[in-house]
Amino acid sequence: MKSKKQISLFVAVLAIIVNTAIAQEVKPRPTKPENGGSLKTITDVSGSSQNDPQMAMKRMPIGGGLSEEWSVYSGELKFQELPYSYDALEPVIDKMTVEIHYNRHHRSYYNNFMNAIKETELTKMPIYHIFAQISEFSDAVRNNSGGYFNHALYWDNLSPKGGGEPKGELAESIIKQFGSFKDFTDKFNTAAKTRFGSGWAWLSVDFTNGELFISSTANQDNPLMNNAERMGVPILALDVWEHAYYLNYQNKRADYIEAFWKIVNWEMVEKRFKQAQKK
Ligand SMILES: [Fe+2]
Repeated sequence: MKSKKQISLFVAVLAIIVNTAIAQEVKPRPTKPENGGSLKTITDVSGSSQNDPQMAMKRMPIGGGLSEEWSVYSGELKFQELPYSYDALEPVIDKMTVEIHYNRHHRSYYNNFMNAIKETELTKMPIYHIFAQISEFSDAVRNNSGGYFNHALYWDNLSPKGGGEPKGELAESIIKQFGSFKDFTDKFNTAAKTRFGSGWAWLSVDFTNGELFISSTANQDNPLMNNAERMGVPILALDVWEHAYYLNYQNKRADYIEAFWKIVNWEMVEKRFKQAQKK
């Protein structure tokens, strides 16, 4: 027969075991992964499905959310004419910069893109379908498809009659998303200034919720590519490669970015904004 002392000890041990089990049961799940990564890492993992080419294709709006001219097969794309003369953007962007940038850089991207897809199935795909699966293709396709497309957007969203502020629904969306036009340009300028090396700053429309967002991409990547941190339809493009400003601004990228707002073609950006909303 067990003594009272032994029974009390047994009950106490049992209570400890039960309490420990309950405590383990209700212990909240850690909000951080065990590998020491941040919560953002977890979000990135779930969001990474956008980077799957099939998922990117599904989420993309019809026609890539772009104007009709981009709906043709890539093999049929033409090198667009510059919508103004070489000196039209002066004094913001000088004649020689525009001439070299358009006639040599941009044209080379177009020619190299056409060579990279020559006699492949890519000639039978619209360019936005190539972007949605860009991780599957060569660096030559990635760099030159982006280089060709990004510059076409850039020239079209500049105008000698540009500047001022957007109107209508685009203006409302900018204020809703960023607080004010000034807050928007500040954030965009920061994205453009802090892009290390060569690349682009963008205002885009998110594929899934239609929200405006600002981002920057390296080299000739763009937000339609399935390697983008956030995918969307680009509606405003700013080239921050040195070839875009060096003759006039040398190392003063910030001055070029500040001057850029004087020649933004808001009518074109508004048109793209509406196109990107179409389902
Ligand atoms: Fe460029």
